[in-house]
Amino acid sequence: TKTTIPVHLDINGRDHDLQLEPRVTLLDALRDRLGLTGTKKGCDHGQCGACTVHIDGERVLACLTLAAQVEGRTVTTIEGLAREGEMHPVQAAFLEQDAFQCGYCTPGQIMSAVACIREGHAGSDEEIREYMAGNLCRCGAYPHIVAAVRQAALEAAS
Ligand code: FES
Repeated sequence: TKTTIPVHLDINGRDHDLQLEPRVTLLDALRDRLGLTGTKKGCDHGQCGACTVHIDGERVLACLTLAAQVEGRTVTTIEGLAREGEMHPVQAAFLEQDAFQCGYCTPGQIMSAVACIREGHAGSDEEIREYMAGNLCRCGAYPHIVAAVRQAALEAAS
């Protein structure tokens, strides 16, 4: 049998106590142990951005992060963005701008977009593209994604 360790996680404002193997990634803990499957597994190697979440408000790739590393920190996933049944403004902007096709990369795109705007990197389309470059979209919906981030950034500034 493999050794497990107790890991306490704060996800979307809820506490979870898990027994995990030390090498379990945050991505696998979210998806396989907590049923939070909104965070997607694309490459599992830090190359696609599908697994983007926030840790203490900063964007992180969950496939490159060990669950045990985030003890004592706050994790936000796509499931934690909506408030009292209201979509997050960035989610609404993605819908309005048709910023997805198959939708697989969308949760990661949205988590990156929220961080992009919050950190002040949405001042121009160029800046948005640069910040969002780690979030791949196989459908090539990039122009719509940039438009959604721009719209949400303008709304946030108004
Ligand atoms: Fe983490 Fe692709 S699944 S970057």
